[in-house]
Amino acid sequence: MDIEYLDKTDEEEYRQLELLKESLVMLEDILTYAYEGYVLVDKEGRIVKINYEKLLGITEEEAVGKDVRDVLENTRMHIVVKTGEKEIRDVQRLQGHDMITNRIPIKKNGKVIGAVGTVLFKDISEVKELAHQLLDLQSKINKYKGEIERIEGTRFSFNTINTVNPKMLYLKKVGEMAAESNSTVLITGESGTGKEVFAHAIHSASYRKNGPFVPINCSAIPKELLESELFGYEEGAFSGAKRKGKLGKFHLAEGGTIFLDEIGTMPLDMQVKLLRVLEAREFEPVGGNKTISLDARIIAATNENLEENVRTGKFRKDLYYRLNVVTIDIPPLRERLDDIPILAEDLLRGLEKEFKIGRKTLDDKTLTLLMNYSWPGNVRELRNVLERALTLSTNRIIFPSSLPERLQKKNKGLGLQDISPISEIVEKAETEAIINAIKKSNGNKTEAAEKLGIHRTALYKKMAKYKIEM
Ligand SMILES: Nc1ncnc2c1ncn2[C@@H]1O[C@H](COP(=O)(O)OP(=O)(O)O)[C@@H](O)[C@H]1O
Ligand SMILES: [Mg+2]
Repeated sequence: MDIEYLDKTDEEEYRQLELLKESLVMLEDILTYAYEGYVLVDKEGRIVKINYEKLLGITEEEAVGKDVRDVLENTRMHIVVKTGEKEIRDVQRLQGHDMITNRIPIKKNGKVIGAVGTVLFKDISEVKELAHQLLDLQSKINKYKGEIERIEGTRFSFNTINTVNPKMLYLKKVGEMAAESNSTVLITGESGTGKEVFAHAIHSASYRKNGPFVPINCSAIPKELLESELFGYEEGAFSGAKRKGKLGKFHLAEGGTIFLDEIGTMPLDMQVKLLRVLEAREFEPVGGNKTISLDARIIAATNENLEENVRTGKFRKDLYYRLNVVTIDIPPLRERLDDIPILAEDLLRGLEKEFKIGRKTLDDKTLTLLMNYSWPGNVRELRNVLERALTLSTNRIIFPSSLPERLQKKNKGLGLQDISPISEIVEKAETEAIINAIKKSNGNKTEAAEKLGIHRTALYKKMAKYKIEM
């Protein structure tokens, strides 16, 4: 009775294994690609199916039905069918090679009916090679990570725009508030005042900060190309040369910010197109008939007087009003001389990092000269002056001799060629007089006050008012 029952289960198991074998045949291609070799044994450890031909030159015909130990060196398949425990990533020595193998028992209703063995790598050195490649990739990733952090780090945020100037502090507030909305921002100011820096800061403070920041200098691109630069073009839009399509800046800025620098130079016909984009919040690539919806914040900048340009017909009034939602008018550096110490400090630290040189400090006299100059080129000029000084100074301290001649000259006057409000002229005159008097008195405030014909406390009050620190 017992024996008959056993026989029946044996038969049943055999049938199961046959089914498995059939499925394996169907999966053969996959298995052959996935593994270097595989073997299927029954619960006694006899080979049911095998593909080790490529690996070891053993053909299926000669191996099937044999005890696995008689065919494969150092096998443990006969053990796995006894223990029912899988063995993953075991190293097995086969014909002089260390191979990586998996052995997995096959169970039916909790009973082991066989096992599959697979070879993952035919030589452990392959794994070492892979590990090597992984390490290589890892170090590449780290390198790029560093690179991205570096780029991100040089990006400006409102935290990196340091200022003590009341007007600049106010503009930072405006910028921060504008960043939170999706409004178009117009940044005006002379060249080199930090318009692009502000645009970066707005981008970094907005919910689009992880999106791209795409700058485009409208004056640097030929009139004929501007449209396709901004909106892209469809395949076959132009005859000849470039047959393939191209994405425009508006497309590239998707999810981020597009910075239209020097918008004042934009040709009138492009101004019409830009206005349409701002109004409809969608654009059309050149030569295409599909519209793409605009998903980018627009920040425009100019050093021109747009109001004046509107008056003379160089800039469209309607576009001007569209852009002029939030305006940030950055004052020239000569109107915020109080920022020079802090700006010089920030710029020096940045330059030291960039040139990988040790810390250098400005001599007091050097700083005074910096504060006495009119800076027609604004912060950009200050940066260049400091870069030059860093290169020229052999000392840890930057002395006036490292400054360009134009800064070392006696004050060339107040730089008041333009007509300014009386209050501004007075402020400049007083600032200059105070700085000169203190310099001539070698820092002695009482003496300086005497020279100026005012009381010492009056001098201190004016110094505080004009943020003169000497
Ligand atoms: N607040 C600031 N802090 C540090 N560097 C600044 C600051 N403002 C401007 N700069 C530097 O001055 C230079 C000119 O700035 P940029 O934004 O390009 O000016 P603009 O676009 O107005 O011509 C850049 O090198 C910039 O890094
Ligand atoms: Mg610029």
